[in-house]
Amino acid sequence: MKRVLEPELMEDEAQVKAYAEADFEVPHSQFIERLQAFVNEPGFSGTALDLGCGPGDISCRFARAYPLARVHAVDGSAAMINYGKLLIDDALKPRISFIQGLLPHVSLPQASYGIIFSNSLLHHLPDPMVLWDVIKKFAVPGTRIVIMDLLRPASIDEAQTMVRTYAADEPDILKRDFYQSLLAAFRMEEIAGQIAQAGLDLKIEQISDRHVFITGIAS
Ligand SMILES: C[S@@+](CC[C@H](N)C(=O)[O-])C[C@H]1O[C@@H](n2cnc3c(N)ncnc32)[C@H](O)[C@@H]1O
Repeated sequence: MKRVLEPELMEDEAQVKAYAEADFEVPHSQFIERLQAFVNEPGFSGTALDLGCGPGDISCRFARAYPLARVHAVDGSAAMINYGKLLIDDALKPRISFIQGLLPHVSLPQASYGIIFSNSLLHHLPDPMVLWDVIKKFAVPGTRIVIMDLLRPASIDEAQTMVRTYAADEPDILKRDFYQSLLAAFRMEEIAGQIAQAGLDLKIEQISDRHVFITGIAS
């Protein structure tokens, strides 16, 4: 099945509200557990960059897991950034900065970051090289890179089955977004090709029927 693009930014108010209020406990806690297994440094006290942060749930989970860290959380959607600022716990506010900016042209407060992570951004990008180029721009030797995203199923039937299996009880708008995201996602071999083209040395693992997890240390 060929890739079908979905709108790049999530800007529609109803869509953003549904996404911000959705329960992502399972995938997001698994993201942080896997990130912690890779970045086994609970005392990390640098700044992490969250690319395509949405309403910031993963930024907040990261900040709780690394109590000395700061996070620069970037998204192109003003509606998402507004939700992030609204939902963040007061205790985390001093350590998480939400930045509205469209990748790859965003200007960030730091030239480089100790950790760069991103969940579910890649499939939104018409040009996937934007993610890998931004990572290269803001990484220095030693930067830990952690990326998770959806994988495109082999067929429309498979995509529809996944929506029924994993989003049966979700509001229609989330079901629609999940379906569109599956169709817009990449296959393992496409992601491997992007990473090779970028000249990055990253490990790519399929961790479920619909998720890819990518890790590496910049050199
Ligand atoms: C599916 S959401 C993921 C949000 C968050 N990372 C999470 O895991 O909940 C993808 C986000 O990427 C943002 N996005 C898409 N293209 C972007 C770009 N070029 N620059 C910045 N943000 C972008 C969208 O606005 C959206 O908020």
